[in-house]
Amino acid sequence: MTHRNRRMDMRPASCSSTLLLVLALLLPFCANAASNVYIVYMGEKKHDDPAMVTASHHDTLASILGSKDEALKSIVYSYKHGFSGFAAKLTNSQVEELKKHPGVISVKLNTYHEVHTTRSWDFLGLNYNQPSGLLHKANYGEDVIVGIVDTGIWPESRSFDDSGYGPVPKRWKGVCQAGDASFNATSCNRKIIGARWYAKDVNLTALSSREHMSPRDANGHGTHAASTAAGVPVRGASRGGLGAGVARGGAPRARLAVYKACWSDDLGVGSCSDAGVLKAMDDAVGDGVDVLSLSLGGLTESHGSLHLVARGVTVVFSAGNWGPVPGTVLNAYPWVISVAAGTMDRSFPTEISLGNGEKLVGQSAYHDDVPAVSSNDFHSLVYAASCDQKALTEVNVTGKVAVCFSPLEAAASPPSNAVITAIAGLYVAKAKGMIFAQYNANQMDTVQLVCEGDLVCVLVDYHLAYRVIAGYIDQASSPVVKISPAKSVVGDWVLSPRVAVFSGRGPSVAFPAVLKPDIVAPGVSILAAKGDSYQFMSGTSMACPHVSAVAALIKSVHPGWSPAMIKSAIVTTASVTDRFGMPIQAEGVPRKVADPFDFGGGHINPERAIDPGLVYDINPKEYTKFFNCTLSPDQDCTQDIGKLYLLNLPSIAVPDLKDSITVWRTVTNVGPVKATYQAIVEAPAGVTMSVDPSVITFKKGGRQAKTFKVTFKARQRVQGGYTFGSLTWLDDRTHSVRIPIAVRTVIQEFIADAF
Ligand SMILES: *[C@@H]1O[C@H](CO)[C@@H](O)[C@H](O)[C@H]1NC(C)=O
Ligand SMILES: *[C@@H]1O[C@H](CO)[C@@H](O)[C@H](O)[C@H]1NC(C)=O
Ligand SMILES: *[C@@H]1O[C@H](CO)[C@@H](O)[C@H](O)[C@H]1NC(C)=O
Ligand SMILES: *[C@@H]1O[C@H](CO)[C@@H](O)[C@H](O)[C@H]1NC(C)=O
Repeated sequence: MTHRNRRMDMRPASCSSTLLLVLALLLPFCANAASNVYIVYMGEKKHDDPAMVTASHHDTLASILGSKDEALKSIVYSYKHGFSGFAAKLTNSQVEELKKHPGVISVKLNTYHEVHTTRSWDFLGLNYNQPSGLLHKANYGEDVIVGIVDTGIWPESRSFDDSGYGPVPKRWKGVCQAGDASFNATSCNRKIIGARWYAKDVNLTALSSREHMSPRDANGHGTHAASTAAGVPVRGASRGGLGAGVARGGAPRARLAVYKACWSDDLGVGSCSDAGVLKAMDDAVGDGVDVLSLSLGGLTESHGSLHLVARGVTVVFSAGNWGPVPGTVLNAYPWVISVAAGTMDRSFPTEISLGNGEKLVGQSAYHDDVPAVSSNDFHSLVYAASCDQKALTEVNVTGKVAVCFSPLEAAASPPSNAVITAIAGLYVAKAKGMIFAQYNANQMDTVQLVCEGDLVCVLVDYHLAYRVIAGYIDQASSPVVKISPAKSVVGDWVLSPRVAVFSGRGPSVAFPAVLKPDIVAPGVSILAAKGDSYQFMSGTSMACPHVSAVAALIKSVHPGWSPAMIKSAIVTTASVTDRFGMPIQAEGVPRKVADPFDFGGGHINPERAIDPGLVYDINPKEYTKFFNCTLSPDQDCTQDIGKLYLLNLPSIAVPDLKDSITVWRTVTNVGPVKATYQAIVEAPAGVTMSVDPSVITFKKGGRQAKTFKVTFKARQRVQGGYTFGSLTWLDDRTHSVRIPIAVRTVIQEFIADAF
């Protein structure tokens, strides 16, 4: 009985709320923009004492508003650890005044963004008990502090049990900020070592009635991310028996610092403001976080993350869920790691038995305890064309299983919309089930999200659906079908990994000369903690904490490495082939061989990332060129904006190759002292590419660096699309240091045919 109640709590309360959820999912961005809070950025802080920095903000604001009192009333957040600035409620004329103030660099309207088991770690080869493995070497991430900026945390989850943990690291300066009755100082422990929440610029009337004015997670998104990154091993985790196994985080002994800057509305959509996220980032630097994980939509304010990186914090962002369309990658700042989502070697086959005895296999998240649909009984089966609103007025699907099949319609819209529309319509019509013909793109994530409750949703390919319709429904007088609960299957026969259909794709619209995304990690059907139980979620939001965990493990083994070195190690050791040596594919229409705009360096390979041989390091001062040297006034800083491909990134993207260009890169030896590397060049089509020198030798210890140049020449003068290549440095041992390359040849500088 209790079991049943739990399930009924979870499914959408009514058809209309399902429809609302559907609408929310279809909205491109959270339309929560109108706000009179502005973010005032003042660059590098002038005082080391945070109290002095805040006082200077009050003075600046008082000079515009007339009095200290007015300033104190207006200020929302003061940024004082990572950089100097504040968020305040301002009128248009005050904004204009502030822009003229000498210490002010920019004033921007605060905007809002959407938040975007654990088989995945075994799939990545991160074996728990292997003595020679990375987890062991990294001491399971012990004493690395991973910060999560998200919807908060559910501290009672078994994933955050701190049994056996030593004291909190001494350098930790954070707090456990209590809130309403549900979260007090005892909610933190030696696992969740800190928690803060940011509600000063949240529209309280728009909040879910289940939200808590505390770090407690009413949404589930933040708890899921935290347990994926650093949850302790929990036996017997599953979702209705599916995906059963040990749920664990990638850095299972890392400490968690929680920053709740994202809040849920009644539809369960989480949204986060720039001002709140910036405050979380600022606190994270002051608190002593090592790796900061942000699974949320594209911030329009980028200074925050740059200041973190300048202070040695590795910042990991999700790449967004607007794929497979080109140019949809978000959070593409050159100093962060932008994470794409991939599938893994697990699937959920579901047997479909037709009345004529034929058995077919589709995929579903259907488990035994869906109350209204007995898996022992046959149900009427009906063809319902596209299953859109119009189609469902023409067929009576009540109490039946509908076959949805419409190549024409599906081809005209993003894949996930058609399946969401069908599920919503079938709920309203009180259908028993759906057999949906889909592209060869995995939409299980959408189905798991939307198909809860008394509806069984099965995905099949067009070929199979056609057989059901033409070979059975059209022939039988009263066609029937029986659907068995799904099984979890893992292993070699599941083609994987693939870049997920929804994963945000390059090139970056904001920074075309920076190759993005950087890396792909598992992000489809990830089982992790939500409240007191475990749930599947999919998205680049789920991929992001995987990379944060790997960054934490690398930090644990190499405490002195900069964020750029950690990122380089992850990108240059990634795999571009699956375990059979076949190129990794990217889902979409049609499915294709993945290129760097789908997965950057490739699929993350934690065990190799720990020993990359060479790294591409970057002095954070280099990045300040983006900000006209306002970040840290320095003689070395030249205003070199526009040639981002000259940054020493572990990738090269040239969006405008006319005749020939040369870029420089420097590699630093972090492997054996004596080493010789040879360049292996894979030139992009239509371009000649040369590397000079093509052999580099290291003889001395102490992180020797060598610089080389890479020259690209257009082989023909055409207004071209992007083509892809790579540069790999190979030594005579096991090191293979590969960077991805994307080049577009152009005749005119500004062209409309972008991708
Ligand atoms: C803190 O919260 C826990 C769990 O909600 C509760 O059991 C405990 O009594 C609270 N402690 C205080 C001092 O309020
Ligand atoms: C706050 O949310 C409510 C309910 O959604 C809305 O009516 C109101 O306009 C919002 N206020 C602001 C300042 O955005
Ligand atoms: C649809 O079928 C159901 C079950 O067979 C039946 O109860 C209902 O009246 C039908 N609706 C219409 C509009 O025919
Ligand atoms: C840098 O300076 C240029 C020219 O003055 C200006 O157009 C640009 O907006 C500035 N960039 C930033 C980030 O302030």
